[in-house]
Amino acid sequence: MFAVQFDRFGGPEVLAVGPFPEPHAGPGEIRVRAAAAGVAPVDLALRAGLSPSRDRLQLPHIPGVDAAGVIDEVGTDVTGWSAGDEVFGAVDVARLGGASAEFVVLRFWAAKPGSMSWEEAGAAGSGVETATRALDVLGVDEGATLLIDGAAGGVGSVAVQLAVARGARVVGTGRLESRDFLAGLGAIPVPYGPGLPERVRALGRIDLALDVAGAGSLPELVAITGAAASVLTLADFTGPSLGVRLSRGELAGEPDGRHGLALAATLSEEGRFHVPLREVFPIERAAQAHAAATRGPRHGKIALTTHR
Ligand SMILES: NC(=O)c1ccc[n+]([C@@H]2O[C@H](COP(=O)([O-])OP(=O)(O)OC[C@H]3O[C@@H](n4cnc5c(N)ncnc54)[C@H](OP(=O)(O)O)[C@@H]3O)[C@@H](O)[C@H]2O)c1
Repeated sequence: MFAVQFDRFGGPEVLAVGPFPEPHAGPGEIRVRAAAAGVAPVDLALRAGLSPSRDRLQLPHIPGVDAAGVIDEVGTDVTGWSAGDEVFGAVDVARLGGASAEFVVLRFWAAKPGSMSWEEAGAAGSGVETATRALDVLGVDEGATLLIDGAAGGVGSVAVQLAVARGARVVGTGRLESRDFLAGLGAIPVPYGPGLPERVRALGRIDLALDVAGAGSLPELVAITGAAASVLTLADFTGPSLGVRLSRGELAGEPDGRHGLALAATLSEEGRFHVPLREVFPIERAAQAHAAATRGPRHGKIALTTHR
């Protein structure tokens, strides 16, 4: 099969598209002939050799954790799914990648609704799982006011919409120029950065806060909500030293948010959810896609089209 791959750590230029041995679905897994894949911060960190999981990578390695496509292999212990079904999802976190390829083995998935483009679906899996997990852990429910720091990015933009769908009032931080984008997702936009407590004070009580940015705002988020227990971070490893929970998902043996994928599909069909795509690249241009993923303002996801 063809796949994006790298055989040494480095910048986007280490990525190449070429032949790679096909993977096969193990127990509890499916394999898809991929139509699209996502690009996530974890892919960039692994490629650059900056991930704590670096030593577990076998090179050459295929980056990418999210993909969508048509099932062509069903592993043992999988029932209710068959070849030809259109799905979107993510790889087993232990594989650290594998999604930017012609054939992708998925560990969790949901049926792709007709309302989602292949590119949207391909980029959705891990962001929807992560956002769902974070909202579950925080206990975001109808009537709560949730502040999301880093609301315009891949995970944040999904978390805003899923929290709004739960009936929460969402305040989302972003750059000044991200104001309309955030409002379009259903959030009350507020500029990110120092002085956040003063800026959100005028918006009334904030019950809960989710840090997606990992930009050092945890002390401010604790001050805004009044309690470290009301704050959750996905990206700031100093969290636990401040009494703030750090959610790392399956890696840390936590309950996962996979059930969010089927919900996101339903909400998409109802016109209440979409995966914002800021750029889509053909798989041959994976290096440009990785380069674009670090350029702000980061609104939603970057996707690769994998069919060719
Ligand atoms: N723990 C987990 O299970 C888990 C799972 C998935 C992702 N993550 C982590 O979560 C983080 C976000 O992922 P993502 O996919 O959403 O990344 P992303 O798409 O790159 O988005 C990051 C967002 O943060 C914003 N931002 C930058 N500086 C900020 C600041 N000082 N204050 C507030 N927001 C700021 C960016 O805005 P501009 O571009 O406009 O500056 C951008 O919209 C990454 O570190 C990722 O590794 C963790």
